[in-house]
Amino acid sequence: MLRLEQVSMSVNQNNGDNKEILHNIDLEFDAGKLYAITGPNGGGKTSLAKVIMGIYGLSSGRIYLNDEDITDLTVTERARKGIAYAFQQPPRFKGLTVSDLLKIADSELDIIGLRKSLRDVGLCPEDYLDRDVGPGLSGGEMKRIEISQVLARRATVSIFDEPEAGVDLWTIQRLIGIIVNRYKDNPKNTAIIITHNENVLPICDEIIVLEEGRIRSRGTYEEIWPLIRDEIECKRRLECRGEMGYEIQ
Ligand SMILES: Nc1ncnc2c1ncn2[C@@H]1O[C@H](COP(=O)(O)OP(=O)(O)O)[C@@H](O)[C@H]1O
Ligand SMILES: [Mg+2]
Repeated sequence: MLRLEQVSMSVNQNNGDNKEILHNIDLEFDAGKLYAITGPNGGGKTSLAKVIMGIYGLSSGRIYLNDEDITDLTVTERARKGIAYAFQQPPRFKGLTVSDLLKIADSELDIIGLRKSLRDVGLCPEDYLDRDVGPGLSGGEMKRIEISQVLARRATVSIFDEPEAGVDLWTIQRLIGIIVNRYKDNPKNTAIIITHNENVLPICDEIIVLEEGRIRSRGTYEEIWPLIRDEIECKRRLECRGEMGYEIQ
C-alpha cells in the first residue's frame, strides 16, 4: 500500500554543504500490518517519517500510496489521502484548545468521543479538553495529546514517532491495545511505530532497523530482536539513570 522506491533525502547544513541523511531506501508497507522502525539515535527514523508525510522533500526516489505517486504532493494533500504523523516533538498551537485540535482531527467527534480519545491516552478529559495546546502543557502531556489526535484521524497510514517518550508504561500498554485492535478491525490500514520499546516491538508484524540512513535489517521480532537486544537494553539502563537527555520535559 505504501511504497518507497530508492528514496534519498539531503539537508543543507549551516556551512552551505549538502548532507545526505537517507540513502536509497526501498521499503514497502502492506495494508493491515503493524510495523516498527527502530535503530540508533540519529539513524534517520524521524527523517524517514517526515519524508513519508511530505514535511521533508526527497533528493531522489518516489513514494507511492496504493499505487498512486504521491512524491510531489504537499503535507495537506497527503493528509487528505490518509497519511497521519504523530511528531516525536509535537508542535504547540497557542490559542487552540485540546478539544479544537481533536475536532480538527475528526470533525464528527462528539463530547463522548472527545472524552474517550483523551482517556485512551491516559489523560483525564475534564482536566484537558479546554486547555490551550500551548507552552502550559508538559512534554509528556503534549505527546499524549498528539497521539490522541492521530488516533482520531483514523488514517490509512498512521505513523507514531517514539510514542513511549514521556508516557508511562500503563498508557503505552493501553495504546498498544488500541492500535492493535484498530488494525485488526480494519485490514486496509497500516501503522508504523518508531520505537525502542521492548513492549511494543514484539506485537509488530515486522521490524525495520534503520542506521546511518540505511536499512540495516528487517524481519520478524524473533529474527530481529537478537540483533538489537544489547542496544535496547543499554538504552533502557541509560533511561533509568536519567542519562538519555530527552529533548522533551
Ligand atoms: N532539518 C535537519 N537539518 C539538519 N540535519 C538534520 C535535519 N533533520 C535531521 N537531520 C540529521 O539527520 C540525522 C538523522 O536524524 P533523525 O532522522 O532525527 O534520526 P532519528 O530519528 O533516527 O534519531 C541526524 O544526524 C540529524 O542531525
Ligand atoms: Mg527521531
